[in-house]
Amino acid sequence: MEVPHVSTGKGRNNSCNSRRRRHTPQTNQIISALAKYPSERRDPEPNWNLQGPRRLPRSHTPHPTKCQKAGLASEGNAGCSFALYSQMAGIRCKVYIPNDANVAKVELSRKLGARVTKVQGTISDAGRKAARYAETTGAYNASTFVTPFRHDGKGTMALEICEQLGWESPDYIVYPVGGGVGLIGMWKMFKILQRLGWVRNVPRIVAVQPKGCAPVVDAYDKGGTEVAEWKAPKTIAKGLKIPKPLAGSWILRCLRESRGIALKVSDVEIHKAMLNVAKRDGLLVEPSSAAAFAAIPVLLETGTIDRKDIVVVIATGSGLKTLEQF
Ligand SMILES: Cc1ncc(COP(=O)(O)O)c(C=O)c1O
Repeated sequence: MEVPHVSTGKGRNNSCNSRRRRHTPQTNQIISALAKYPSERRDPEPNWNLQGPRRLPRSHTPHPTKCQKAGLASEGNAGCSFALYSQMAGIRCKVYIPNDANVAKVELSRKLGARVTKVQGTISDAGRKAARYAETTGAYNASTFVTPFRHDGKGTMALEICEQLGWESPDYIVYPVGGGVGLIGMWKMFKILQRLGWVRNVPRIVAVQPKGCAPVVDAYDKGGTEVAEWKAPKTIAKGLKIPKPLAGSWILRCLRESRGIALKVSDVEIHKAMLNVAKRDGLLVEPSSAAAFAAIPVLLETGTIDRKDIVVVIATGSGLKTLEQF
């Protein structure tokens, strides 16, 4: 079967914009297939769907035409993606990464040509370093919500999901929230699709965070419009260790608009979900991704979702880069 290639790097941006996109780098990305979960039903289970881990998020594409160098803060995955696309586009790439990042993410970014600087502290500290680097060198700052490419890029997940469901929206999307890029990007796209009349309904978004760093869940539960900084974040889900997401108020707005749900899962539940999903379904996901799977039993037990509902769980990150955490 021929698989369509989706072009990357859509949208406009100040320093990296061009009307002609002849040189947009592309990997052999495929549309992520929805798969039934669990694949083998040993006991009565709901009809879960999930998005298989994509090879590389296609949202992480700096525009090649004018950029000479780009810098970003990353927990690791975005760093790998930017490293790859930057070297394909002939752009120098600098990644600021927290000290405790997974070794494979640091190594892969380096092997793909990026200059990686480890930063003491959290992703917020790395973000400040990336901003300073961009200011002092003129590099394109590709950090979360500094560039619009990333959230609009992740919005394509909504397109893929609806297309594979015959232009219907699922009832729920379960997504592990760190910076909120995927949540905001998808919600924006679902609303566009509904306005265009391509889908009748929009899903309710379930935002999942680890108990050791859940600033969005707390703010949403309190009915707030701003996300307060989480003091002393601690979790095995490093991609979700974002003490104060830059787009906190947007995340909360999206959740409210979608009549969304926000919940916390413990590191123990996350680890258990990692093993369960790997052993039962052959899907190797990293802790940040496993958080979404860990939420499913909770959602079921509390009766929040029904077994008849169509639920899409996004498998956001491969466990191959976090083998030491299994
Ligand atoms: C595997 C994984 N899942 C989820 C997230 C959170 O993503 P978002 O910024 O879209 O909330 C990250 C962020 O780094 C991640 O690496």
